[in-house]
Amino acid sequence: MSKNSLSITDNRTGSTYEVPIEDDCIRAPDLRKIKINPEDFGMMSYDPAFVNTAACSSSITYIDGEKSILRYRGYPIEELAEKSTFLECAYLLIYGELPNQQQLEHWTSRIMRHTFIHENLVQIIESFRYDAHPMGILISSVAAMSTFHPEAREVGDPKIREKEIWRILGKLPTIAAFAYRVRIGRPHNYPDISRGYTGNMLYMMDYMNEHDYEVAPELSRALDVLFLLHADHEQNCSTATMRAVGSTRVDPYSAVAAASAALFGPLHGGANEAVLRMLTEIGSVSAIPAYVERVKKGEMRLMGFGHRVYTSYDPRASIIKKVAYDVFKVTGSNELIDIALELERIALQDDYFISHKLYPNVDFYSGIILQAMRFPTDMFPVLFAIPRAAGWLSQWLEMLDDPAQKIARPRQIYTGYDERPYVPIEQR
Ligand code: ACO
Repeated sequence: MSKNSLSITDNRTGSTYEVPIEDDCIRAPDLRKIKINPEDFGMMSYDPAFVNTAACSSSITYIDGEKSILRYRGYPIEELAEKSTFLECAYLLIYGELPNQQQLEHWTSRIMRHTFIHENLVQIIESFRYDAHPMGILISSVAAMSTFHPEAREVGDPKIREKEIWRILGKLPTIAAFAYRVRIGRPHNYPDISRGYTGNMLYMMDYMNEHDYEVAPELSRALDVLFLLHADHEQNCSTATMRAVGSTRVDPYSAVAAASAALFGPLHGGANEAVLRMLTEIGSVSAIPAYVERVKKGEMRLMGFGHRVYTSYDPRASIIKKVAYDVFKVTGSNELIDIALELERIALQDDYFISHKLYPNVDFYSGIILQAMRFPTDMFPVLFAIPRAAGWLSQWLEMLDDPAQKIARPRQIYTGYDERPYVPIEQR
């Protein structure tokens, strides 16, 4: 008869242990009973970068990387991208269900009314140097917001948590737009909440006193779809950071600042910026084969290719490729798209990329879209952080309410010196 357990024989001692299996997992603490001597610490599992370790159970986002499946709360990403909006998906992630009309209106109005930021925060944003990276401004501004809203430290109070979520999702686009306007030396545009989430953001960045100014609906919809696609992606590096930092019970502003810092890295949120630099460096379709050879020799990575979880096409990349063409209808075509398409074609036929299961990820096309919309490249990670905050916050809520969670504290294998005496400086 089959048993839902694992029998482990320790060949050092000949002892056999039985470890329960639940959800196809064993619990790492169950390994601790495997010891040579009773005074031993017990066995641990070693998993740098958590490639095969579940640190939580979650009901938010489902990914099957082999089958190219991504779902928020059970809804396929393709259906959401076609029929839903970013704010509706943010509600879905946070509360677990799609909102009815009244719930959506209340949620939208709460978030849009929180788009205004404190004037002291405006001064902080303005005090950065003209060439400050907007992601640095965003990280610092969100961290500063914890000093504006000290009640946010009451993370056990559901009403306070909800209000901080409205504030964070509302204010992030304003911080981003103000950081951009500082960068280009233009006065700020205060939020116009009648324009919707992404329409308002584009307005705040772009408006120059034109009396008939309108945001092209195709562009605000394209940005909304990009936001929706980036809203959550289960336990990626920045989300794991949000959970780890949040597990200390710090306020959500500090945790979102930490998660944003994780997202700033070139292997994570900085990847679409890197894709664009790469396509620009390649320069022409004819230069692609030589570039691919250099990648295969290990001189560099093909940015926008590969994913820790997807071993086939990233489903977001297929949706985004279609969005790119909608955007180009408004903005005009972009020569980088020709290089990207040919690069994708060549790479997908190449043994190296096939055998390493390297396919385009969401960042391969998002950078080209954002560039066509005239966003400067250093705004790209900011445009990733804004929607991902919805995912971070939903994962943070789930972590706070999960009785299995404690302060995150990994173990290590110590490889340093054994005890040794201190050597006075003159003898070293
Ligand atoms: N180009 C060329 N080779 C690659 C690439 C790439 N983009 N990605 C992985 N490989 C190769 C590695 O060299 C390695 O080869 P080897 O086994 O022969 O040594 C193998 O594939 C496995 O690579 P790992 O680094 O172990 O894969 P990992 O899962 O750790 O990395 C990552 C995933 C970071 C996304 C990686 O594929 C990468 O660096 N891609 C480029 C950056 C990028 O596009 N990041 C965006 C990720 S999506 C997001 O954050 C929204």
